[in-house]
Amino acid sequence: MSDWLKNVITELGNEESPTTITNTRGQERPATYSRKPSPPKTIFSPTPRDLDKALAAAKTIPDEQWPDRPLTVREAKKKANVEKRREAREAAAVDDGEEPDVPIIVGDFRDKETNWQLMELVEPGSVDLIFTDPPYAEKNLDLYKSLAEFGSFYLRPGGSLIAYSGSHMIGEIIRAMKEHLTWWWMIVDKLNGPYTTLNGKKVLCRHKPLLWFVKEKYDGAEWVVDVIESTPPDKTMHDWQQSLTEAEYCIQTICPPGGVVLDPMCGAGTTLVAAIRKNRRAIGVEIDSGAARRAINILNKAAA
Ligand SMILES: C[S@@+](CC[C@H](N)C(=O)[O-])C[C@H]1O[C@@H](n2cnc3c(N)ncnc32)[C@H](O)[C@@H]1O
Repeated sequence: MSDWLKNVITELGNEESPTTITNTRGQERPATYSRKPSPPKTIFSPTPRDLDKALAAAKTIPDEQWPDRPLTVREAKKKANVEKRREAREAAAVDDGEEPDVPIIVGDFRDKETNWQLMELVEPGSVDLIFTDPPYAEKNLDLYKSLAEFGSFYLRPGGSLIAYSGSHMIGEIIRAMKEHLTWWWMIVDKLNGPYTTLNGKKVLCRHKPLLWFVKEKYDGAEWVVDVIESTPPDKTMHDWQQSLTEAEYCIQTICPPGGVVLDPMCGAGTTLVAAIRKNRRAIGVEIDSGAARRAINILNKAAA
């Protein structure tokens, strides 16, 4: 191994392997025959500054998250951040406050039971804005289809449905959703924080499309600017948490004052927080009870 490589490898917290193992009858045998030593915890740290970052990250990464190979400093920081977020979420999950005024139904927005509950809260054909952020993976095209059907049931004529989407299958999504709603426009959410590198496409992705559909014809009074300068989101409570900026802009511009905003895949509740900040009525649905719990805690804090 070169001197350079020796200098850049930091070995952290390697446990001493036992030299012998004793079985239940008290017989001893060499441990090396039966026990594979755990892989060393290694982070490549090319500069002294990186070494500090590597040491800080190493303290946070739980044992079971160390892979069999060395980590780069970037990977180590990412793993440490995931762990910090997990701890924050656990803390939020035990923070059982009052139920907030904003109702969140735990369930699949496509299920009958969820819709029975939802119809007790809001009349079909009366919602002003559905603003939501479905999972973008290709396998979820059907989810977008169901979303459009759901939208045509709950929206009032002239009401809007705005959904985040990845850029990779916009064509298919629009085609599928147009079966139930009128395609209106694409609003560009310009990312001013971290952006995604799509190696396969050679694209540095600096925007997110917001797909805007309408039930029949848009009847809003306001003009809508189709580029929103976003702000970096806080991802503490949900890995996919979005920024409040675009939700607030769309709610303020597209949903009339006092109107109803519904998010059928509300995650940690960004849309709902934006709606109450803009004095609209908010309702959420979320399939993951942990995420719904965190959304309730966030809403309680926002209302305090
Ligand atoms: C991209 S995340 C939303 C994040 C949210 N915008 C935020 O800022 O926290 C998508 C959410 O949709 C939820 N979801 C996926 N399929 C669903 C379904 N069929 N019904 C209800 N929720 C669903 C997931 O559990 C996830 O929390």
